Amino acid sequence: MSFQALVRPNILKLVPYRCARDDFSEGVLLDANENTSGPAIHDLKNSEVILELNRYPDPHQQKLKSLIAKFRGHGLTHENLYLGVGSDEAIDSIIRVFCKPGIDKLATCVPTYGMYRVSADINDVKVVSIPLDLETFELQPQVTIKALNADPSIKLLYLCSPGNPTGKRLNPEYVELVINNWNGIVVVDEAYIDFTDGAPSMAPLVNQYDRLIVLQTLSKSFGLAGVRLGLAYACKELASIMNALKAPYNISVLTADTGIRALSDESIAIMRTYISEIQRERKRLLEALSNIKGIGRNRGGCDANFVLVEILDAATNKPSNDRAHEVYNTLATERKVVVRFRGNELGCEGCLRMSIGTKRENDILIRELTDILG
Ligand SMILES: Cc1ncc(COP(=O)(O)O)c(C=O)c1O
Repeated sequence: MSFQALVRPNILKLVPYRCARDDFSEGVLLDANENTSGPAIHDLKNSEVILELNRYPDPHQQKLKSLIAKFRGHGLTHENLYLGVGSDEAIDSIIRVFCKPGIDKLATCVPTYGMYRVSADINDVKVVSIPLDLETFELQPQVTIKALNADPSIKLLYLCSPGNPTGKRLNPEYVELVINNWNGIVVVDEAYIDFTDGAPSMAPLVNQYDRLIVLQTLSKSFGLAGVRLGLAYACKELASIMNALKAPYNISVLTADTGIRALSDESIAIMRTYISEIQRERKRLLEALSNIKGIGRNRGGCDANFVLVEILDAATNKPSNDRAHEVYNTLATERKVVVRFRGNELGCEGCLRMSIGTKRENDILIRELTDILG
């Protein structure tokens, strides 16, 4: 089945908003009701003057998209891209493209990132949860395919690879197996893909499978969470539909400018240095944690910029949510070190998720955990 058959009919027929600058973009611009006196900011920096903040941003962002596509390579172009206010906007847009509120459903493979459910709830779309293998946090292709085919109202499957909170990259062959044995849209959220040990992104496969969408973000490896720039790769036709649906000016002038700077060769080199440091620290942190009495297994994989470790009950030596919650609270309130309690997620009994910090931050975390648990 082609993806078009799954798009909501009103979205398929959508005529995108035509922006003032789509027709003419040069000369005395009195077409968009902007304030041509300029930005009313008393301490405008020179770098901001050039950006003409009083003007609406480019709705198409072709330059930024071309740089992002070039960064991933493998035949991807700006036409494969949708840009959003973080990948959280892409998560929501995809639901609106495919799911009729109150009728269609989406599926997730749990444990997984919480925003899929929040976006589904906002859109009045029910969620079907299919478990990952709870020992390895790997996708169970046959279980997943069976569950998806059992309910024709499921239109979308959200997979997270590497997973949050699992930190585990899913086997791409299993993902392809699902695409080939189910007639819905498979979304692979690759927010953490750059933290693996060089595993390739599935993004280039969107030109092979028109029912595959790959999400990425500049929030993680590029260190730009505050900028809010996320993206979806899809086949050209689907990317074009997603672009028609978005608010025309969702990417601000400041966001686009930062994104373009982040994708220069010099910035990418810095990003790669940070990734190497994070990978080194991830290894060191895990080793140190494994020597602390009261900390159990690293439950997750080693493919993201965080780890997911068990906190053990002192008496039973088993993972304990009560103890994990206690440790989480003590860390945050008495030691001013904030991690995330994930013990209520399926298969994550007693687990805390800890982002990999700088060497200094990780040393503090190790010291405080040793002190609390020792
Ligand atoms: C798996 C996953 N996807 C998406 C996001 C959100 O990314 P963004 O900052 O681009 O909205 C996060 C943030 O933590 C995440 O863990």
